[in-house]
Amino acid sequence: MVESLFQKLQQAYKGKKIFLTGHTGFKGAWMLKTLSLLGADVKGYALEPQTKDDLFYLIKGEQICDSVIADLRDKKRLEKEIIDFQPDFIFHLAAQPLVRLSYEIPAETFEVNVVGTANVLDAVRLLDKKCDVVLVTTDKVYHNNEWIYPYRENDRLGGYDPYSASKACTELVIDSYRNSFFNSKKYNTHKKGIAVARAGNVIGGGDWSKDRLIPDIAKAFANDKAVVIRNPKSVRPWQHVLEPLMGYLLLGANLAEEPLQFNQAYNFGPQLSDALPVEDMLELAIQSWSKGEYKVESDGHQPHEAGLLKLDINKAIAELKWFPKMNAEQAVSKTMDWYREFSNDGSDMKKFTTNQILCFLNVENLIGKYN
Ligand SMILES: NC(=O)c1ccc[n+]([C@@H]2O[C@H](COP(=O)([O-])OP(=O)(O)OC[C@H]3O[C@@H](n4cnc5c(N)ncnc54)[C@H](O)[C@@H]3O)[C@@H](O)[C@H]2O)c1
Repeated sequence: MVESLFQKLQQAYKGKKIFLTGHTGFKGAWMLKTLSLLGADVKGYALEPQTKDDLFYLIKGEQICDSVIADLRDKKRLEKEIIDFQPDFIFHLAAQPLVRLSYEIPAETFEVNVVGTANVLDAVRLLDKKCDVVLVTTDKVYHNNEWIYPYRENDRLGGYDPYSASKACTELVIDSYRNSFFNSKKYNTHKKGIAVARAGNVIGGGDWSKDRLIPDIAKAFANDKAVVIRNPKSVRPWQHVLEPLMGYLLLGANLAEEPLQFNQAYNFGPQLSDALPVEDMLELAIQSWSKGEYKVESDGHQPHEAGLLKLDINKAIAELKWFPKMNAEQAVSKTMDWYREFSNDGSDMKKFTTNQILCFLNVENLIGKYN
């Protein structure tokens, strides 16, 4: 019998100890809920969520993990939490992830993203056990040639804005640790698998970040206002948050089985046909919500933002057997369903979010069995 994705992930993570950084953030909260549905024992490490509407609170995240609220830059604390926990896996998602904010706080962005990752890896050095580590960077690590070709894992890294550069630097740091301390030739001594996941822009319920289009759309539609957009022609890869998260989990599962084969970087993005201009994505959102308007405002003084970036996902498809399940239309629709539910009633977003995950994993039969 062919093993389903749910079964494969359950086999890899049920009863396992997972140290998850960034568990209070958008992706981190979806990851936390997914891991808890898989039966994992999770310890989270991140800053306090920013508002009461953060997904972490809506899913009652504090009840499904040991939640540590602390800074990645607090090296001693981070080390202590990792060493005390003795994790089987680490998923490192915590970061300052916003391009525009990185222009306001560039040095802090470098500190959190680059030094923060080095702090995680330093703690991993102190672990005297097998541990598999998936470090999350971004599609923006690629030196952007503004060309039509999708980027492959072996393309040159770089970064114009501080956020992109910080994540490209993070990858250099990871490479250095992998060579210096977690070298394949000495695997039997250190027993660490170190992999990198590069995903593109993702969408999904519960993202309230500033300067991200979907939260702006959802807030505007819920309040019967027109959403203001800056770069209608910018082509971006649109993908539901659950797609790369399943990629991270599959990568972790494979890494645990074959650490010397999967200790590399993988792209996770949509099919090329689902990289769409912002304007087309908005039309899909309007269709899906059955109402909504937008207006284009460009003040001409905006910081540089990369115009075009597509990811080549063939390596993840071939080696991890990961592939995107939803096209852009389905991803936008699933996202808008979440925000519409939140704005209409919103009384049980924990259940709604759980059900979206179970449907995504094709285990609708489990709906009602899990909260
Ligand atoms: N959302 C996207 O579209 C997208 C795309 C590509 C890559 N990523 C990457 O995915 C990861 C998660 O992104 P997200 O969208 O969930 O971001 P988010 O802003 O919603 O969450 C960030 C998380 O990091 C934590 N964090 C930030 N600074 C910290 C610090 N100094 N110490 C400890 N924790 C800290 C926050 O508390 C939060 O839990 C990031 O590494 C980001 O770069 C996100």
